[in-house]
Amino acid sequence: MESKSNINIVHHSTPSNDAVDAVVKIIESLGRDWFSDGVSGETRRDLSLQHLLTAEEGGKIVSFLTFTSVEGDIRIGMIATQNDLRNRGYGKSLIKKLKELAISMGYNRITCLTVPENSNPNYASTLTFYERCGFKVTKRLTEIWQSGALELSCDLIVP
Ligand SMILES: CC(C)(COP(=O)(O)OP(=O)(O)OC[C@H]1O[C@@H](n2cnc3c(N)ncnc32)[C@H](O)[C@@H]1OP(=O)(O)O)[C@@H](O)C(=O)NCCC(=O)NCCS
Repeated sequence: MESKSNINIVHHSTPSNDAVDAVVKIIESLGRDWFSDGVSGETRRDLSLQHLLTAEEGGKIVSFLTFTSVEGDIRIGMIATQNDLRNRGYGKSLIKKLKELAISMGYNRITCLTVPENSNPNYASTLTFYERCGFKVTKRLTEIWQSGALELSCDLIVP
């Protein structure tokens, strides 16, 4: 699927309370199949010091990505699309915008951590999503979260 050109992506360097509320609503729409209890509260705190990209449709935030800078790379904290609007190109459009932004800010790499597919089978689709967006698994971390994590990364090609 190509990322849609008509999706409105907004960069919030200091997310407003309304934007954070919309993000929490999306997290809660996905529920326990995806996120453990406490993730909404953690994300609220993270967003007081992180940046946010949102995808909007009809003025409503339907997908988001949080990010910051870690050891000289852009690090995605969390990405999610409202449950009933997944697989319509929102996530890919957010990653495309993040790559453009990262290149314009002088970064060479985007990294993220995600849940291993063998500890939650739902996350097999998340891995496919990241791979379609140009990410590769770079590390399998064991001593983190409850059942480890995958580190993914994407090298940025400066045009
Ligand atoms: C991962 C997620 C953010 C992707 O967002 P999205 O808006 O559904 O993604 P898109 O519609 O832009 O899909 C982009 C690509 O990923 C693929 N993809 C998306 N969902 C998929 C699925 N369930 N199974 C297989 N591939 C999938 C699409 O086919 C598309 O590939 P293509 O462009 O080569 O055809 C979304 O599915 C989600 O919220 N997942 C649950 C939460 C999560 O896992 N977050 C990440 C961990 S923090």
